[in-house]
Amino acid sequence: MAKKDKEKTKVKEKDKDKRGKKGTTAAQPEASTLPDAERIGFAIVGAGVIGPFHARAITDQPDARLVAVYDVVPEAAAKLAAEFGAEAMTDLDALLARGDIQVVDVCVPSGLHAAIGIRAAQAGKHVICEKPIDVSLEAADRLIAACEAAGVRLQVISQHRFGAGMQRLKRAIEDGTLGTIVMGNAETFWYRSQAYYDSGGWRGTWKLDGGGALMNQGVHYVDLLRWAMGPVSTVNAKMGTLAHERIEVEDVAVAVLQFANGAVGTLMGTTDAFPGYTCKLEIVGTEGSVILEDGEIKAWNLKSALGEVGAYGRSKEAKKAEAASNGSVGMGAADPSAIAWGGHAHQVRDMIDAIRAGREVILPGREARNAVELILAVYRSAETGREVTLPMDPKWKPGVTKAVSAAPAPVAAAPPKPRQRATTAKAGAK
Ligand SMILES: NC(=O)c1ccc[n+]([C@@H]2O[C@H](COP(=O)([O-])OP(=O)(O)OC[C@H]3O[C@@H](n4cnc5c(N)ncnc54)[C@H](O)[C@@H]3O)[C@@H](O)[C@H]2O)c1
Repeated sequence: MAKKDKEKTKVKEKDKDKRGKKGTTAAQPEASTLPDAERIGFAIVGAGVIGPFHARAITDQPDARLVAVYDVVPEAAAKLAAEFGAEAMTDLDALLARGDIQVVDVCVPSGLHAAIGIRAAQAGKHVICEKPIDVSLEAADRLIAACEAAGVRLQVISQHRFGAGMQRLKRAIEDGTLGTIVMGNAETFWYRSQAYYDSGGWRGTWKLDGGGALMNQGVHYVDLLRWAMGPVSTVNAKMGTLAHERIEVEDVAVAVLQFANGAVGTLMGTTDAFPGYTCKLEIVGTEGSVILEDGEIKAWNLKSALGEVGAYGRSKEAKKAEAASNGSVGMGAADPSAIAWGGHAHQVRDMIDAIRAGREVILPGREARNAVELILAVYRSAETGREVTLPMDPKWKPGVTKAVSAAPAPVAAAPPKPRQRATTAKAGAK
């Protein structure tokens, strides 16, 4: 990183407490004194719920400027552009032909990410793509290949990776502080009303949302789990559409995972949990365990620090004291726009630094593909009722069989064996 850039990053670090507040209406940064030609030009495609978060993250960088906004709904583009001093455009080709735009932020419905991203890459623009990278592996692979062929960067948003708690947990796994990792669980217990799904024609559809509780809302913590634990070898899952009437995709999903490193784990996601709870990541190692909830470390317990805790673990009193001190922090649990923009700013900053330094970005397309592959494996296992072994066939798409929502026929429990017979058999075996 150039010295000048390092100094700017330091200033940003000092300013951290002012950044990343929920919504996009935190105090605007002071206008940059850098001439336009020295700033990286950005455009946003898609001016819905998440578009303003990108606008805020871009305009927070002193060496970036938001040049243009495009949306198929011109009024949406005009509103966002006016709010952040950019130009609203009604022709995407004209936007992509501009020489003063180097990066395009793709903020359209998930199933259109590759289509828009590929057009941007072919026009020579670097791409920042919202999560998930797209809704199928085949589309993700086309986007990754197009960016590689054009020699442009592809950064996929997964903002929760960059919080202090997750960064600390990741370091503790990598440097062996937690010992051998034996279990990893991720949960997203959120609520989305039917009105939320009805608010956009693409929401809750296989084609454009690509899935529900896991592919849209749960993908954040699926990504954290996969990042923390490494590759998954097999998945056994169940899911259903149990509390919403007019959606195609799942609103509950649970899966049992076998990781390639020998550890086991679970994934749970729902948008039925009224009124919206937290996201949780639990990592268990032979030397300690950590619980991360909504990005905050809720438990960090190492054998090296606590010493022996007795045959049954901690005392009841110690557990109660910890439970009482736990608070909860909203981050989109019930309202999709109630998220912080600091993580987006981190990834926008990283894109700028990567362009200037000629290096890879912090979360490239190949890495973001892992979460989508794992979610698709959950869907495939739930649809077929079978264990799925990874890697997934890139051509496979969910939503083909109706078994997604079908409750399995009840299986009668085997009648208990009469005690007498069991005893007799045991005696006979002697
Ligand atoms: N990182 C996060 O925390 C986060 C939060 C919310 C949404 N997202 C992601 O952002 C993406 C958009 O979600 P949203 O909630 O903002 O959706 P939205 O429906 O609110 O906004 C999407 C916008 O894209 C526009 N659009 C649709 N097709 C287009 C096209 N072909 N060209 C240009 N514009 C087009 C729509 O008119 C709309 O204004 C999704 O992939 C979603 O998963 C991420």
